[in-house]
Amino acid sequence: MPHTDFSARLIAWQHRHGRHHLPWQVREPYLVWLSEIMLQQTQVATVLDYYPRFTTRFPTVQALAAAPQDEVLSLWQGLGYYSRARNLHKAAQQVVSGFGGVFPSSRRELETLCGVGRSTAAAIAAFAFHQREAILDGNVKRVLCRVFARDGNPADKKFENQLWALAESLLPSEQENMPAYTQGLMDLGATVCKRSKPLCGKCPMAEICQAKAQNRTAVLPRKKAA
Ligand code: ADE
Repeated sequence: MPHTDFSARLIAWQHRHGRHHLPWQVREPYLVWLSEIMLQQTQVATVLDYYPRFTTRFPTVQALAAAPQDEVLSLWQGLGYYSRARNLHKAAQQVVSGFGGVFPSSRRELETLCGVGRSTAAAIAAFAFHQREAILDGNVKRVLCRVFARDGNPADKKFENQLWALAESLLPSEQENMPAYTQGLMDLGATVCKRSKPLCGKCPMAEICQAKAQNRTAVLPRKKAA
């Protein structure tokens, strides 16, 4: 199966069926970063409720960096995982003091910010700067393990590196397609290629999915070995 098919299918599906016009679907890195941190462990519907309060109170990275930590934590109340809020505040200060208040555009520099791991850095680079960077979170791992019938142990570092390499090999060649591609991958994993009872009838990958062809969607990805 040509790998180019994967990105073409995903981009077409995202244009037709994906989410559009979310408040963070903009090219402003501060707004993208803020949304990605909130979305790390929180569902879109909840983030939609909190996000406008944050951006109204802290419209810029400078405003967030200058705020007292208490105020950041109090606006975060209800989102949970408070280390995210503390890292958020610290990262804003890093951008102001270390990058002159301008978000870096490379995935590697974004990874130096508190609370920003490789996949989040790649998402910011893709959405805000149209960089060809691959994401790989739990949902994306599931999609890749199924479509390409990879049955390694997800807890194994070597296998994870193979999935990163696969994710990179699948990126669309055109930079301008990176936001739709990246959002499509997230949305497909969250809404169609679900952990249990995947909606293969609605999946743009159904015809090329190796797990589906082999009747193995229920066993891929493999469960983490204890
Ligand atoms: N999870 C992490 N980032 C996301 C995004 N941009 N849209 C939907 N879910 C996400």
